[in-house]
Amino acid sequence: MKCVRCKKKGVIYLKRHNAAFCQECFLYYYKNQVKKNIKRHRMFDKKDKVLVVISGGKDSMALWHILASEGYNVTGMYINLGIGQYSDKSQQVVESFAQKNGLELIVKDIKKEYGLDIYRLSKLLKRSTCSVCGSIKRYLFNKVAYDCWFSVVATGHNLDDEAATLLGNVLSWEEGYLARQSPVLDSTHPKLVKKVKPLYTLTERENLYYVLINKIEFLHDECPHAVGARSILYKEVLNKLEEESPGTKQRFITSFLEKGRRHFQDVYANVDLRECKLCGQVTTTEVCSFCRFISISNSQSKS
Ligand code: FES
Repeated sequence: MKCVRCKKKGVIYLKRHNAAFCQECFLYYYKNQVKKNIKRHRMFDKKDKVLVVISGGKDSMALWHILASEGYNVTGMYINLGIGQYSDKSQQVVESFAQKNGLELIVKDIKKEYGLDIYRLSKLLKRSTCSVCGSIKRYLFNKVAYDCWFSVVATGHNLDDEAATLLGNVLSWEEGYLARQSPVLDSTHPKLVKKVKPLYTLTERENLYYVLINKIEFLHDECPHAVGARSILYKEVLNKLEEESPGTKQRFITSFLEKGRRHFQDVYANVDLRECKLCGQVTTTEVCSFCRFISISNSQSKS
């Protein structure tokens, strides 16, 4: 198949667009998608200070790379969550990329800095490791963004992630989550920093091509706790649908954003936000979950 743009030999075929690209034109397509998403949803502009959430995987590395190459004012932020070798390897990848490319990077280590152990916490709280991990990440990314005057936090969520999350939320009609599912979450409290997902129309595979073509080092391993996660099952189901009917994932997301999401807006607007009485960060309870984690860890280590 010929490249749809320059008519040279196409090497990357995107079934949902029924289009092939040569490497150069694929990069043009990819960059255009990101630029369009940023502009269409007024995510940020060149004056904004953007904190990019980095895990070391292909999606976040692709996001960091493209935003930096397009001249945005970006700083990466990585959290070492104490997940054995997975955390050690990913931290190495992220630090070496920042160093090689002269990029700003903030690193937080939850064990060293806060004495937190997600395994111990998940046992004590009878919550899954992923849920404890998610609460810590959400808290720290927002706190660092707020404390260091970032105007926006950008994550590498891709089309596959978004479609799988939407499917999960629809299956159990999680109204609160459906209200918040969007490529842009504007701040609803002075201490909550805006969140954006510039890659939400690009698939995992497209992000993979982007990092491979640009020779960007990334961590190939998934987090060991992702094994057996519901989101993986949803991704497999959606992949089957996509195979039969290319474009399903994109239609699912875009039609939800255009027609579905507005029906849940009241749920979002009615959430009662307050400031944690210990740290002052935004929460829905008197003490936020991060401060609860800290006090549980402290009391356990004393006993
Ligand atoms: Fe949080 Fe896997 S990255 S549990």
